[in-house]
Amino acid sequence: MRKPIIAGNWKMFKTVSEATAFFADVKGKAEVDGVETVICAPFTTLPALVEAAKGTTISIGAQNVHFEDNGAYTGEISGVMLKDLGVNYVIIGHSERRAYFAESDAIVNKKVHAAFKHGLTPIVCVGEKLEEREAEQTKDVCKVQTEAAFQGLSAEQAAEVVVAYEPIWAIGTGKSSTSADAEDVIAFIRDVIAGLYDAATANAVRIQYGGSVKPNNVSEYMGQSNIDGALVGGASLEPASFIQLVEGAK
Ligand code: G3P
Repeated sequence: MRKPIIAGNWKMFKTVSEATAFFADVKGKAEVDGVETVICAPFTTLPALVEAAKGTTISIGAQNVHFEDNGAYTGEISGVMLKDLGVNYVIIGHSERRAYFAESDAIVNKKVHAAFKHGLTPIVCVGEKLEEREAEQTKDVCKVQTEAAFQGLSAEQAAEVVVAYEPIWAIGTGKSSTSADAEDVIAFIRDVIAGLYDAATANAVRIQYGGSVKPNNVSEYMGQSNIDGALVGGASLEPASFIQLVEGAK
């Protein structure tokens, strides 16, 4: 049985005081039996959020991690540092990082290994661009990205990975994938993982959909048998909307 997981990806939004106020509003409300709630926030807000989340069922995640433990990497944050803060999750390979910060599949894989080394659960993003979708390359792209991300992971580690299928054309555009299309691609991604390991491992992996998920469409995605939650940008920024997303995942 896979536990549904709703993760907010705040991207580059919220100061420390805004993050703290948000948390106070969702505490006790975005905590629903049978649903895992995660907030992936900017680095600067993580200490305050980890502190605020103590004694709650809400986990705190980062949006990136460097693959080395330390070194001359100006501006970067390592898994050692995130674990030290008490962070539990980290988003890896978001399409914005792939597009704007040149993150390759090989780098994504190194970061996934770094996450496991430091006891962080990776939320690995895969997904196609609009032109790839139009060229009917969606599954090819997702296969390549998934296989690269999982390279070198044991079956035990693989089972712990959270995959987020985010078609890039659906991010922040209001143009969400239909639930049937998302289910089709996500079932395919699960098959790819089964091919790398076995059916039991693939069935343990939680796969989210991401891309214009809102309170009014989250339950439609959750109704699909292979979709185990959502990675949400815009609609995760307001407390009321975030609470509704978590409730909609029941
Ligand atoms: O990681 C979540 C994200 O890329 C989706 O953003 O604003 O379409 O929910 P949004």
